[in-house]
Amino acid sequence: MRKEENRYKELIKEALKAREKSYSPYSGFAVGAALLCKSQKIYTGCNIESAAFEPSICAERVAFFNAVSDGVYDFEAIAIVGGLKKQNISEYCFPCGVCRQVMSEFCPGLEFKIIVCKSRDIDVENIKIYTLSELLPHSFGLKNIED
Ligand code: THU
Repeated sequence: MRKEENRYKELIKEALKAREKSYSPYSGFAVGAALLCKSQKIYTGCNIESAAFEPSICAERVAFFNAVSDGVYDFEAIAIVGGLKKQNISEYCFPCGVCRQVMSEFCPGLEFKIIVCKSRDIDVENIKIYTLSELLPHSFGLKNIED
């Protein structure tokens, strides 16, 4: 358990680092995500916005698409941190509905862990861990359209 806790703390650290790359001049809200693969490799992502708004993308999807475009499909957990750039991180940043759906596409077991941290201080009291099935119950997916 201790080992897993340290691994998750390291994942949050990577998400905080990825957040520094956020391109978010329109919302001023910077998000970082770090995706842990079963191989223990980590793929990161930050949110990237556009003046046309619609092409903007969340940090979580950037991390997933980074991994998938590298041929990786086995995922264990994702750490997410976010908040307004002009403030300290003080709230949990939960994944949006679209990102939850993308997670379900690539983590069909739904035992995938979503780790959120509400501070730069990576301490257990600032961390919450959920399973994807908790954040996306009764999901729609491949199972529904298979013959
Ligand atoms: N955003 C993320 O990157 N991930 C989330 O979990 C929530 C929202 C981004 C999208 C947009 O660039 C900015 O945060 C404000 O919504």
